[in-house]
Amino acid sequence: MNTEKIVRTFVEYFQERDHRRITGSTLLPPPGDSVLFTTSGMHPLTPYLEGRPHPLGRRLVNVQRCLRTTDLEEVGDATHLTVFEMLGTWSLGDYEGSLSLDWGYRLLTDGLGVDPGLLHATVYGGDDQTGPDTASLQLWQDLGVPVELTVEDNWWSNGPVGPCGPDSEIFLWSGDTPPQSTPTRDDRWVEVWNHVMMRHRRLEDGSLVPLPQRNVDTGLGLERLASLLQGQSSVFECDVFDPWRRIVPALWPLDEPSLRLVYDHLRSAIVVLGDGVRPANTGRGYVLRRLLRRVLTVLWRDDPSRGLGDLPDELVSHTLDHFRQKVDPSDVRRLLLEEECRFSRLLERGRQVLARSRFQGPLKDEDFQYLHDTHGLPRDLVTSLRQE
Ligand code: SER
Repeated sequence: MNTEKIVRTFVEYFQERDHRRITGSTLLPPPGDSVLFTTSGMHPLTPYLEGRPHPLGRRLVNVQRCLRTTDLEEVGDATHLTVFEMLGTWSLGDYEGSLSLDWGYRLLTDGLGVDPGLLHATVYGGDDQTGPDTASLQLWQDLGVPVELTVEDNWWSNGPVGPCGPDSEIFLWSGDTPPQSTPTRDDRWVEVWNHVMMRHRRLEDGSLVPLPQRNVDTGLGLERLASLLQGQSSVFECDVFDPWRRIVPALWPLDEPSLRLVYDHLRSAIVVLGDGVRPANTGRGYVLRRLLRRVLTVLWRDDPSRGLGDLPDELVSHTLDHFRQKVDPSDVRRLLLEEECRFSRLLERGRQVLARSRFQGPLKDEDFQYLHDTHGLPRDLVTSLRQE
């Protein structure tokens, strides 16, 4: 089952249960929001989770592109991507979490063909502020799905303050052996779908108050589910990455971890550019810059003649089309090449400056400060140049 079919099955399943499809937003949160990028499908819906009536009603479904930089160092493993798509559903003060979990179970098993014996759930076990989530526990027990209770892993929030709540996560077994152990003890259990009982707000002082309504916010990682349904061992092997796997290894013969980094970061950079972000030394632009610099560092490590100019248009346009971004692929290519050129000049200058006798010994904080302020050399770049 390809990702397109998964999306269609998911959306139709919830439309049949009176959910209205909302258009996913871009990666850029609304002005005034404190986060750099949309990190979850619920993010653009925060005002509605807090009680504002949504124009399309109380049951919503969508597909939202998300970007998570906290996982940047984990990219290259089997399950993490920087930009990914989240299939989401919401009950805005309408039905309860156990109905959402029941639908989730039935969609996965009847609708998408997952063997029920390969499922595991986790449920919030409670702490001194909030009791255990007995309704979710009961539901899983009725369905005969094994459950693990946790505390921190089953509490979802978008930040230190704001809407939050206990969640119940659905895991799929990805191992070659019959399922064993539990999600917190064996990482062959892959989390695919999180159902958050979003009914609290955390205040500045850490206390919890009830939201005006009891919501359910769910998010399912599309590429993770696709790779498992397609019998693949990593997200990089699901159909979304077909053109990347066909083109990139022939262009740049790299080892598998480096290929994964290139697929992930380059694809993410194209999407971020497609949403209108430009490279910069702060904020979103700096995330974009870091993604591209990490790609270039890998490419140039054993062949400095490689470059983003080698990249066929097809990969850029495939990515922009996939995310329905109406941007001219040649503009994106031009921006990629400009950034590559800037990085190459910066590296050259960095090598010259660091060759000075003043920088031969260990560097102090004021050296890093000077290199940054006077020569535009960020600390991480200085560190990697000194390791060359
Ligand atoms: N907000 C939850 C998450 O991101 C569910 O959508 O996992």
